[in-house]
Amino acid sequence: MRYQLPWVTPVLNRRRFLAAGLALLGTRAADLRSSGSLAAEAIALRKLAAEKGLIYGTTIAARQITGDRPFLDLVRQEAGLVVAENEMKWQVMNRGSPGDNDFAPADTIANFAAANGLVLRGHNLLWYHRTPSWYFDLTDRREQERAVIDHIEQLAGRYRGRIHSWDVVNEPIEPKDGRPDGLRTAVFLETLGPEYLDLAYHTARDTDPDARLVVNEYDVELDAPEQEARRVALLRLLERMRRSGTPVDAVGIQAHLTAAGGPPFSAPLLRRFLADIANLGLTVQITELDVTDEHAPAQVAVRDGLVADTYRRFLDAALDEPAVKMVVTWGLSDRHSWIVRRETYQAKWRTDDAASRPLPFDADLEAKPAFDAIAGAFAHAPQREAG
Ligand code: XIL
Repeated sequence: MRYQLPWVTPVLNRRRFLAAGLALLGTRAADLRSSGSLAAEAIALRKLAAEKGLIYGTTIAARQITGDRPFLDLVRQEAGLVVAENEMKWQVMNRGSPGDNDFAPADTIANFAAANGLVLRGHNLLWYHRTPSWYFDLTDRREQERAVIDHIEQLAGRYRGRIHSWDVVNEPIEPKDGRPDGLRTAVFLETLGPEYLDLAYHTARDTDPDARLVVNEYDVELDAPEQEARRVALLRLLERMRRSGTPVDAVGIQAHLTAAGGPPFSAPLLRRFLADIANLGLTVQITELDVTDEHAPAQVAVRDGLVADTYRRFLDAALDEPAVKMVVTWGLSDRHSWIVRRETYQAKWRTDDAASRPLPFDADLEAKPAFDAIAGAFAHAPQREAG
C-alpha cells in the first residue's frame, strides 16, 4: 500500500493573523503583492501545499513533543509531515555496540505523527557523519556489510509501513575527495567500495517495500563550480543506480540556503538540474530548507526581507518542476533551529548579538516575511500529481 495523505482542517490563528499583517508592513510592495492576502487569511502551509499536490513538513525533536506545547500546536497547524531532526540517526540512537539502539525518542516522533495524521519521513539510515564509533573498528569487509544490513533491517524494519520516504544514504557525494566518480570516500566506501550504496538501497527496499528511497544531498542548489561538480557527480550516481537496477525513487535536495554572502542563485540552472533528475524517472524532495542570515546586516527588517527573498526565489524556481513533490523546512520556528543553536557555540560573523532568523516563524512563534514567501510560492506553484 502506498502512503495516503492525511487531510487535516486548518485552524485560524488570530495571533498569527496580526503578526503576519504587521510583518508585512515592514516588507516591500512586491512581498505584499505576492502573498499578503494569504498570510492575512492565515491559511496553513500544509493546506496551501496540499492544494498543489505538495507535502509541506518540518523537523521535530522528541523533547519538543514532550516539552513545548505551543510549538507543537504550531506544528500541528502548519505541517503535513514531520521528520526527526536527530533521533533516527544511527550514532544518536546507538548505545555503544552493534544492534543496541534506544528507539524511545524516535518512537515518540513516530507516535506523534501517527496520532496527528502526519506523514512521517525517515532521516536517515546511513550517514558518514553520524556513524557509531565501534563501526570504525570493523576492519573486515564481511563484518561491515553485516553491520550495515543489520542496522537498516532493524531501523527500517521497526517503522515498516509507516515511513513515506527514507533518506537511505545521506550525503554520499564529495568531489573534493578526488575520486573520478565524485563519491565521498568516508567510512562505508573505504572498505565496501561504491557498492555499499547498492547494498544499502537493496536492503532498504527489501525491508520496507512501500517507502520511497531517497538519495539526500547538500550544496547542489547554487551557481558555483564546486556545487556544479556535486550536481554532476550526483547525476552520475543516479544514472548508475538506475542502470544497475539499484532501487531509488527520489532525490533529496537539502537546500540549506544563505541570505547574503553565499554563491549566486540561478533559477534556470536549478530548473535544468531538477529536470535532469526528473528525466531519470525520479521525483524530488526539498528536504532541509532553511536560510541562514549570518552574513546579513543586523537590522531585523532587512534580514527578514533578505531571508524571505531567498525562500521565494528558490521555491518559485524549484516548484516550477512538477517532479518536486515535497518541501520540508529544517524547523518551523527560530526557537528551534540548528543555525541558531550553532551560533551559541561557534563564532558568529556578525558582531551584534542578535540571533539568526532562518525559519518561517520567529522565536515567539509569530509568522515572519519568510512565511509569506513560502505561502506565496505554494500558492503560485503549478498543480502536480502527488508523489
Ligand atoms: C543537524 C541537526 O539539525 C543538528 O541538531 C545536529 O547537531 C547536526 O545535524 N544535514 C543533515 C541533517 O542531513 O541531519 C543535519 O541536521 C543538518 C545538515
